[in-house]
Amino acid sequence: MNTQVAIVTCLILAAGWPVITQGLCPIRCQCNEERLVVVCDEAGLGVVPITLNPDLREFHLRKNNIKGIMAAFSVYHNLEYLDMTSNHLVALGRNNFKLQNKLRILILGHNMISSLHPSTFVGLHGLQILKLTRNFLRELPDNIFTELINLEILDLSENSIDTIYKNAFVGLKNLKILLLKDNKLGHIPTSSFRTIPHVLSIDLGSNNFPVLLDESFVNLVNLEKLKLNSCGIRQIHKSAFKRLNKLIYLFIQDNLLDSIPTEAFFNLKTLLELDIGQNNIKVIEPKSFSGLINIQTISISSGPYLEKIKHEAFSANIRLQHLVVNHNKNLKHIDTKAFSSLTMLRSVSLRNNDFQTFDEDLLPWNDLQHFDLRDNPLVCNCSLSWLLNHYQTRNFSENFSLEMTHVRCAHPLVLRDLTLKSLTVNDLGCHQIQTRRILTGTLIAIGVLILLTLISALWYRQRVANDFKIKCSITLPDTQYENCYRRDTYLREEISPEREWVVKIGRDPFPGRFV
Ligand SMILES: *[C@@H]1O[C@H](CO)[C@@H](O)[C@H](O)[C@H]1NC(C)=O
Ligand SMILES: *[C@@H]1O[C@H](CO)[C@@H](O)[C@H](O)[C@H]1NC(C)=O
Ligand SMILES: *[C@@H]1O[C@H](CO)[C@@H](O)[C@H](O)[C@H]1NC(C)=O
Repeated sequence: MNTQVAIVTCLILAAGWPVITQGLCPIRCQCNEERLVVVCDEAGLGVVPITLNPDLREFHLRKNNIKGIMAAFSVYHNLEYLDMTSNHLVALGRNNFKLQNKLRILILGHNMISSLHPSTFVGLHGLQILKLTRNFLRELPDNIFTELINLEILDLSENSIDTIYKNAFVGLKNLKILLLKDNKLGHIPTSSFRTIPHVLSIDLGSNNFPVLLDESFVNLVNLEKLKLNSCGIRQIHKSAFKRLNKLIYLFIQDNLLDSIPTEAFFNLKTLLELDIGQNNIKVIEPKSFSGLINIQTISISSGPYLEKIKHEAFSANIRLQHLVVNHNKNLKHIDTKAFSSLTMLRSVSLRNNDFQTFDEDLLPWNDLQHFDLRDNPLVCNCSLSWLLNHYQTRNFSENFSLEMTHVRCAHPLVLRDLTLKSLTVNDLGCHQIQTRRILTGTLIAIGVLILLTLISALWYRQRVANDFKIKCSITLPDTQYENCYRRDTYLREEISPEREWVVKIGRDPFPGRFV
């Protein structure tokens, strides 16, 4: 219905086109004469229609069966936008865009283009975006982009590029974004980067670089964003990131690193965001990130081997605001003081790890705005009552969000799968503990009292005996000794009848000495 209307419209409009004799909007295309836009997506076309308004500015040809372009576009020298995604292009030929100096966006993704030639893009002086995603390119020869002096974005993702010649990027003097992800590069094309020092963002993900050598990016002095995820990186040399003096984002997740490349990070003083998850790291050691003095966001997620975060792991990262440590199925321990000195921390996500409990003292709660402990095998005992307290008492109109919906108990059995927020401190056994504490306290107090009484009794006895020893020389004959002892005792206190009796019958505190 729509198509028919469009066709009719096209026919009517086509009649008014001055230059075209048989000018028709092809069947299954939509031609907007006012905006000079033709949309022929999925129109079953085998060739590029050449009978459209020659002033055409925007041409959509997605999902057709076009195999070559020949000189078709020379008709449309006002073309600014051309999308030929998902056709059957095998090659682009030579000089086929010679008259397209107004073309700004050229999208050729999802074709079968296997090679480029220095004269392929001749004439495209105004081109700003070139997408060659998902083709069969294997190498980038020298000088193929020399005419693209205004190109800002070059997308070569999802090809099979294993070789980039030294002068491949010559001429790309306005390039800002270079996408080379998912190719077959076996090393960083350091020397090819020599000619694009102004580039801001490079994606080299899903290639294969087991080792990042020293000075790999030494020419990219303006680079702000670098993606190196999924590249099989095992080792990063100490000066690999040298001269990346403006880097803000670094993504090196999904590699084979077995430790944090602390030394290499010393070249990344401007970095604000780091993703280093999905590596083989077991332990985050103290001061692991100490070179990253400006870092604000660190992600360490989905590490299959991560077990422990040690004390002061982030101690140098005083500007850290967001910490994301999710899906590390073996992470069960964070040392006390692991997050010490992180006064700017705003959000902490610890979702789906192996934590059985979590210590409130680890985090600066006053400034925290977001905390997430979902999907951990928590032991719901009194040690977690603080979390319940936060949930119940924190002012949620402030900027604080606490993910509690999926914070569930794994133990003890009676609480299994219940959400923590549905429980009370009594359920967590805090009352038992309190009762036990009171009981223990009382017992201890009684014990201490008894001990004190005993000690003072002993002390008193000792003192009496000492005084006696001094005053009544043991060389005195027995009777005098006894008198002396009695006299002395009388002087000291009113002697009790029992005591007198004891003295009388000769049983004294010093048996064996004067009986
Ligand atoms: C609660 O469980 C955790 C984890 O098993 C344990 O470390 C902690 O000592 C327990 N606390 C209490 C009060 O039993
Ligand atoms: C919660 O925050 C609101 C607005 O920020 C404030 O007016 C209110 O007094 C706070 N309530 C408590 C209990 O702190
Ligand atoms: C809440 O946070 C947002 C963004 O972080 C901020 O713009 C806003 O001012 C904050 N509101 C309060 C009440 O602190």
